Formats: sequence, structure tokens, C-alpha cells
Amino acid sequence: MSPVHDESAHSSCGHHHGGNGHTSAHSSCGHQHGNEHTCSHHEPPLKEVKNIIAVASGKGGVGKSTVAVNLAINLAQSGAKVGLIDADLYGPSIPTMFGLLNEKPEVVGKNLAPLEKYGVKLMSIGFLVEVDTALVWRGPMLSSAIKQFITEVEWQELDYLIFDLPPGTGDIQLTIAQTIPLTGVVMVTTPQDVAIADVTKALSMFRKVDVPILGLVENMSHYELPDGTKDYIFGSHGGEKFAKIQGIPFLGSIPIDRAVREGGDSGAPCILTHPDSATSKAIKQVATEVGRRISITNAG
Ligand SMILES: Nc1ncnc2c1ncn2[C@@H]1O[C@H](COP(=O)(O)OP(=O)(O)O)[C@@H](O)[C@H]1O
Ligand SMILES: [Mg+2]
Repeated sequence: MSPVHDESAHSSCGHHHGGNGHTSAHSSCGHQHGNEHTCSHHEPPLKEVKNIIAVASGKGGVGKSTVAVNLAINLAQSGAKVGLIDADLYGPSIPTMFGLLNEKPEVVGKNLAPLEKYGVKLMSIGFLVEVDTALVWRGPMLSSAIKQFITEVEWQELDYLIFDLPPGTGDIQLTIAQTIPLTGVVMVTTPQDVAIADVTKALSMFRKVDVPILGLVENMSHYELPDGTKDYIFGSHGGEKFAKIQGIPFLGSIPIDRAVREGGDSGAPCILTHPDSATSKAIKQVATEVGRRISITNAG
């Protein structure tokens, strides 16, 4: 597969199919799809994936990738089959966060095999092109690259496929929301007012395209000083209050911790290097809560 080309036949109509525990009305080709519907010209995308989760935010730098990576590893540790797509084509973080900066995926026929580390199958634009290349891409090329990550990568059977999204409400988010039946989206924010203002916009976009909201994670909630007191650097409980106002589930808060930043930069995420720290416990609690909300969403 070349990293980017025009949409191929089997990825062009974006039909929504049952089988992911969620069906939604389909916007672009006018077909009504139910479980009885089968397309003669292609297989539905990601039909072997049970749950498709997006991790989103309004602002950049609030910790989407950190949450996505640690969530993926935690789910894999619990025995699930997990894949992670780095959908931030302008600022891919997955190669760094997994310590895979110089790795290239293998080509299998006309598809790519995902890389795999810490039990998680991975795909990132950073594995395919120089990062500077994607910076000049416009909407259609971004959408086409994302569709290739969905349809031309050998994901095979997965319990969870997680999308680490770019910030905001652009072409990439819309392409994903309209190409595949997302089980739901996990929103990430810091407690700070400016981050909350932006996450409001992102939330309303996902609501508009009928993506279930699994809930909100508050990252960088506080910093614990050596004497045990908590410094609420970005404000106190802003995420939790916001979730309450919006009527969405609060999935938990993650403190600011040097080990998180170091783990991200070194390619050895903190839940692996410091599994018993307060921060790792907070992250695992968030992961458990995400799992619980997924079951509730699928049951509803
Ligand atoms: N809880 C945390 N404590 C310390 N550093 C963090 C925390 N969460 C994220 N970071 C660091 O902040 C930076 C931005 O996080 P990242 O996950 O890349 O955000 P995003 O994907 O939303 O842009 C990274 O350097 C990351 O290591
Ligand atoms: Mg990111």
C-alpha cells in the first residue's frame, strides 16, 4: 500500500454495518443498512473489531495520547486484543510513546501489518512517512490516509480498537465518525477554563454526528507536593464539574506526574514502569470505568 492514494473501491462509500454493537444512520450514500444488508463489492470495515473507541479533546496537549496509550496497554494487560490507531496525522505521538521511532510496518499483499508492542497492535503515519510530509496535507488526503488505516491494515480480530485523535473538530474526526460505527468517544480535558471551553465544542460535534459519549477524563488534575498536599495547578475539579453540567459520565482524574511525561518521552509508559504509583492506579481506574461505560453503551 502506498501511504496515500485516492480512495479505493472498498473504502469509498463508508457504509455503516452492524456487528460493532452499534449501528447508526448513514449519511453519504443514501442506503439504509441493517444487519440483513450486505454489500456485494466490499467487506464492511473493521467487522472483526468488537469495540471502536476514539480519544478526543478540544485542545492539544491535554493528554489524549497519554490516555490512549495507557488505556490500550491496560486493556491488553487484562487479556483483551487491542489495536491503537494514531489518527493525529499532524502530530503523531505513538511512535515516540512506544519507542518505535525507526520501525516500519511489513507489507502483506496489498495491506500493511500493524506493528506490535506491549501487547498492542499499532499504526501511525509516523511509521510510514517523514513527519514533515503530512504537515502539508489538506482535508481529502488526511481523510484518505485515515481510511487506509481502517481498511488496509491487517487488524484482524480485536476486542478494542482505539483512535488517538488530533485536537478539535476537523476532517479527521468527521471522517472517522462517518466511516465506521464508533462504540463511543472518551473526551479528555485539563481542569483549566480554556480547555473546558474547547472540549465543549468537540463534545457538541460528536453529539451532532451521533457518536455516543462514553465520558470525560480530567488529566493533570493536580500535583502532589512532597508533604502530601495537593496543588491544583490548572484549577480544581473543572472536568468533574463540566461532566456534571453536560450530563456525561465522569471517568476519573489523573494527576500531573513526572513519570507520565518521562514514560511518554522514553517509550515506556508509566503504567508499565510504575504500575503501583498513585498515578498508574488512577489511570487503571479510568480504564476500568471506560470498560464499564462501553458495556453499558453496548447494552443500551
Ligand atoms: N498526567 C500527566 N502528568 C505529566 N505529564 C503529562 C500528563 N499527561 C500528559 N503529560 C505530558 O504532556 C504532554 C502532552 O500530552 P499528550 O498526551 O501528548 O497530549 P495530546 O495528545 O492531547 O496532545 C506530553 O509530553 C505528555 O507526556
Ligand atoms: Mg496527541
